[in-house]
Amino acid sequence: MSASTETNQGGVGRRSLLRGAALAAPAAALLPAATPAAAAPRFDPHNWRSVRDQFLLTRQHAHFSAFMLASHPAPVRAAIASFREQLDSYPEQHQMGVADIGLGARSRAALAGYIGADPAEIALTDSTTMGIGLVYAGLRLRPGDEVVTTTHDFYSTYEALRLRRESDGVVVREVALYTDPAAARADQIVSRLLAAVTARTRVLALTWVHSSTGVKLPIRRIADAIAAVNADRDAEDRILICLDAVHGFAVEDVDVPALGVDFFMTATHKWLFGPRGTGFVWGTPAAWARLRTTIPSFSIPAFVGWLTGQPPVGAPGDLHSPGGYHSFEHRWALPEAVAFHQAVGRDRIVAYTHAQATQLKEGLATLPHVRLVTPRAPELSSGIVCCAIDGFGAEDAVTRLREEHRILAGTTPYRESYVRFGPSLVTTPQEVARVVRAVAALR
Ligand SMILES: Cc1ncc(COP(=O)(O)O)c(C=O)c1O
Repeated sequence: MSASTETNQGGVGRRSLLRGAALAAPAAALLPAATPAAAAPRFDPHNWRSVRDQFLLTRQHAHFSAFMLASHPAPVRAAIASFREQLDSYPEQHQMGVADIGLGARSRAALAGYIGADPAEIALTDSTTMGIGLVYAGLRLRPGDEVVTTTHDFYSTYEALRLRRESDGVVVREVALYTDPAAARADQIVSRLLAAVTARTRVLALTWVHSSTGVKLPIRRIADAIAAVNADRDAEDRILICLDAVHGFAVEDVDVPALGVDFFMTATHKWLFGPRGTGFVWGTPAAWARLRTTIPSFSIPAFVGWLTGQPPVGAPGDLHSPGGYHSFEHRWALPEAVAFHQAVGRDRIVAYTHAQATQLKEGLATLPHVRLVTPRAPELSSGIVCCAIDGFGAEDAVTRLREEHRILAGTTPYRESYVRFGPSLVTTPQEVARVVRAVAALR
């Protein structure tokens, strides 16, 4: 059976697809702009109290784990509500999802502007884990090729690589980049990684900011060291640096291409406070060329390829965005999350967050019964602050902080678990001081 016969039986003809695609872009333009939520207080991006007021987060708590699963600020809630209403009342106006070609492109363009990259190099995903899964499942590797990862990465990287190893015998090796996180050193991290690289290494699977310890890797230095190794290699043998970037994205003030990595996988539902269930993968053109597609996209080039019986030819961001229908109201509200951050200013948000993290680390370091796990140096830390408290398991300490002090912190979901705080644009220096007092009282 030819592709076009199948198509006709399926009811989606080439002409209707192309007509839908043609409609998609104008549809995006015709949609009413997201209306501000009626109850949202006036937004003054220069006033931190006003920024905080855009969130429905409870007032009686200090939200130091808000970075893990985003609460939506008012403009994002309004955009989601508006799209949801359109989808609930008259889904056909979105051509049953074909409008995603235009509205998804709007989300990619907003992200591209935010990270300083080309939208064609951005594939939309639903989470960091989805991006990690797509990259590690799809990399073109030969039996015996090696992936070097670390003992500090999150479950998603570990499991994606375990699955890959099971499927085709790729060798995965783990290296410890530091022994005591608080005493981690950039030169040691780089030299331990380089020492683990062999002639068969094709991939470094890394995490920008370790959610286990708060250590931030010196990614640019690592990238420069690997570039020197790659200089003597043929293109297909070059080492690709693949980065789980979720706890650095929107909390570090750097354009993504300037990091020097090849793949950057993140969610937008953590430090960006974007719609839950959204994320992306960015890759360089050379890196995308080394990735097979795992999940069929619903892009124009992929459909045209199907209808014409040809391999799809198109932008990697189109071809690698997993297809199928999504929770579109969330995906399409991404530009409002980016605009919210840009209105406040990426540099201001990062400075505000880092200043609170520094204040918190300095405060915790004065407490004799507390062991700071996250390095104090800004080059090796970001927004996450982890510590251990004498006489308390992490879970018990978090419970006491919540129940006795209305401070919401988290525990690190690793074999060795610590108390974890994430100051952010929804916390304040006064609340940081409250955390230090509360931890001091934990005896
Ligand atoms: C380092 C790291 N990567 C990935 C994830 C998972 O992110 P997502 O929920 O976007 O898949 C987490 C925690 O949730 C994490 O700590």
